[in-house]
Amino acid sequence: MVDPKEIMEKEKEYYVPAYAKKPLVIVEGKDAVVKDADGKEYIDCLSGIAVVNAGHCPEKLVRAGQEQMAKLIHCSGLYHNVPATLLAEKIAEITPASLKKSFFVNSGAEAVEGAIKITKKYAVTQGRTGAGLIALEGSFHGRLGLSLTLTGQAKYKKGFGTFANFPGVVHAPMPYCYHCPLSYPDCDIDCARKVEDIIKYHTSADVAAMIVEPVMGEGGIVVPPDEYHELVQQICKEHDIIYIADEVQSGFGRTGRMFAIEHWDIKPDIITMAKGLGAGMPIGGYVTTKEIADSLQSGDHFSTFGGNPVSCAVASANIDYLQEAGLVLNAEKIGFQIMKGLSELENQINSIGEVRGKGLMIGIELIKDDKTKKPASDEASDVAKHMMEKGVLVGTGGVKGNVLRIQPPLCITSEQATRVLNIFEEEVKRI
Ligand SMILES: Cc1ncc(COP(=O)(O)O)c(C=O)c1O
Repeated sequence: MVDPKEIMEKEKEYYVPAYAKKPLVIVEGKDAVVKDADGKEYIDCLSGIAVVNAGHCPEKLVRAGQEQMAKLIHCSGLYHNVPATLLAEKIAEITPASLKKSFFVNSGAEAVEGAIKITKKYAVTQGRTGAGLIALEGSFHGRLGLSLTLTGQAKYKKGFGTFANFPGVVHAPMPYCYHCPLSYPDCDIDCARKVEDIIKYHTSADVAAMIVEPVMGEGGIVVPPDEYHELVQQICKEHDIIYIADEVQSGFGRTGRMFAIEHWDIKPDIITMAKGLGAGMPIGGYVTTKEIADSLQSGDHFSTFGGNPVSCAVASANIDYLQEAGLVLNAEKIGFQIMKGLSELENQINSIGEVRGKGLMIGIELIKDDKTKKPASDEASDVAKHMMEKGVLVGTGGVKGNVLRIQPPLCITSEQATRVLNIFEEEVKRI
């Protein structure tokens, strides 16, 4: 038996306090439900921050991991690796046809940094410097030096001196219609067109890549206007800028498509991935075109644990499982049910400013009042806290900290979704 108090005390003593934790010790999980050390059950509406898209511990994936673990746990990058190669083949099958070659690492931040590194090399092989990089205000791309520089939110950087200070990075406006002074569609998608000005006024006109989350996650589940990605990619093409879709959070069925970028008619040059790829096993990676991939030469990059056979075997089984079990379709269906329920509440309750999202990547922005749209951040945390007490785990986030995040495993049932909606209704009415 695990004593939750003892674990929390030990963690305080022995673990670096990098993150404020909720007073909950999770010891077990099955499908969309986790159990704490006292046996209490919770509907996990955050999926371990969008990780266990297939649900907690599906038997097929557990078996895939166990079998590979008994066969070969580690294979160094010096030798040919069966699970990593088969996973790369599978990734090429489920991403746009132009994307062919993958590289695997251990996390989202490493995936982003690896992807940027290859765009720099590609620019150099083209006779350019590739000095510039463009990311979005309000974005999140990880917490290592370069990925944190790309992240467009000071709250993650403050207190670290020059750690997040990679040269050449500039930020373009966040496509956040709810807080935009212009109104859609009269705005003519000004946020997308501004990218042209950013290139002209804030770079040396030699930009290696632009990285964009198709649906912005940590920034508050922000869905850009429909025309956004197409327009921005067009601008990038005109300036020979590689378009990276950072799907670390939105990939693997989360939005009701295998990749969120499929909601729009564009083909990125690189997709970065992590979280939902390994169903809980630590793995990240990127997939790109043959042309970009082949700009790396032997010795240019390496990762000791990258392409870990156990993580790759589970990731392959996970992709099969998401498809066979119809979980991507379920994300669309249950996402629709939740969005419908939330939209009805939005019409009744003033403190719900906006409900937005795609599939099971849903954000509820809480505000103090309709006119000022002043963020109700404390209230969002309070609703999340009380929902947890009632057996539902939701996330909080957003550039203003006032967005509740509903991102459950894609296997969540209609009954569970109804329970989540009912508990949310009680709590939002209480505040
Ligand atoms: C879009 C996006 N990119 C990158 C990352 C970084 O991933 P990791 O925490 O695995 O380094 C995240 C994490 O939330 C993310 O949402």
